[in-house]
Amino acid sequence: MEESVSSMKSKKILVIGGMGYIGSVLTPLLLESGATVCVLDNLLYQQTPEVKSLKAYQRFQFINEDFRNDIILNRALLGVTDVIILAGLVGDPICKRYPTIAKALNEVGMLHLIQFFHGKQLERVVFASTCSNYGIMKEGILADEDFPLNPLSDYARAKVSVEQNILALKNKVDYCATIVRFSTAFGLSSRMRFDLTINDFTRALFFKEKLSVFDAQTWRPYCHVKDLSLAILKILSAPSHKIYFEIFNVGGNNYNKQMIIDKIIAQLPYTDVDIEYTQKIIDQRNYCVSFQKILDCLSFEPMYSVENGIYEILTALNEGRFHDFRDHPNKYGNVSVNDKV
Ligand SMILES: NC(=O)c1ccc[n+]([C@@H]2O[C@H](COP(=O)([O-])OP(=O)(O)OC[C@H]3O[C@@H](n4cnc5c(N)ncnc54)[C@H](O)[C@@H]3O)[C@@H](O)[C@H]2O)c1
Repeated sequence: MEESVSSMKSKKILVIGGMGYIGSVLTPLLLESGATVCVLDNLLYQQTPEVKSLKAYQRFQFINEDFRNDIILNRALLGVTDVIILAGLVGDPICKRYPTIAKALNEVGMLHLIQFFHGKQLERVVFASTCSNYGIMKEGILADEDFPLNPLSDYARAKVSVEQNILALKNKVDYCATIVRFSTAFGLSSRMRFDLTINDFTRALFFKEKLSVFDAQTWRPYCHVKDLSLAILKILSAPSHKIYFEIFNVGGNNYNKQMIIDKIIAQLPYTDVDIEYTQKIIDQRNYCVSFQKILDCLSFEPMYSVENGIYEILTALNEGRFHDFRDHPNKYGNVSVNDKV
């Protein structure tokens, strides 16, 4: 017998960290799907989210608070059916810069959250993890979800720890958890991040800045920010037996940095770019990932290619968007946190 799944219209979804790069794309999609959405986000980067357009939806609520406050959490959870966890200190550089805050948010805070959700009548909890957990591997191999993890940074080690703690709750909590290991994202978001490889390289080459590229032959999987969001929607509407305490790699294709650079140059009206290649091992990560499981179980395939993402960023830059990048790097990337944490 076909299992019944609540329709998006009957859902109230709490997006923790919903004013970040991915959340700013996911939240409008959830609203468009008919869901009621509450975003809990403390605007760690003093970002100025596009709350105005979201408020046009009666079904949207924004709570500008820290997810580690239980009183606030209880308020945010009122009537909520599903939770998406996107919050945290995201990326290796910022976690290296603020190791104590990174631990408090990405590990201690997350472990508290997943315990706290028990008994709250939730249906689904989706935790955003990362393909960075695979770290480094021999070339020619594609890591599936069972591939041994090899986290190389505090950021990835915290994700692995939270994943393990979530899996240990299987059959012990009253909600259905799903872990998504996201590829490195690219593409436009109303909270833009130019500290992500494709976005960063595209912006720098557009402005003919000198681009320093280390280890150009290292591989990574990439995925458009809208596709990452669409994967979450798929999970929310899948039958629970397909996603119950499952892990899914989410992404499209694997590329090395040189391939990304070539794709950007192919869309520029000039070829005289200034690129400095170095072999410094700043970041050891080098991994390729398989997305077969999410295709087989949920029929999920990305809609947007790397070329699409580069094109939309170049178009936005041509239109003069992000003209204030140099004056406000923190507005467009995870550079420094405000004094709320
Ligand atoms: N962007 C990527 O390439 C990528 C790749 C793999 C995994 N992920 C995962 O996806 C998730 C979202 O990534 P993103 O790129 O949108 O990051 P982001 O930094 O843009 O967004 C994180 C959001 O969390 C909020 N936040 C941080 N601490 C908070 C707190 N204590 N209380 C409330 N809100 C808080 C921030 O204000 C921010 O809006 C993260 O969990 C990240 O690890 C992202």
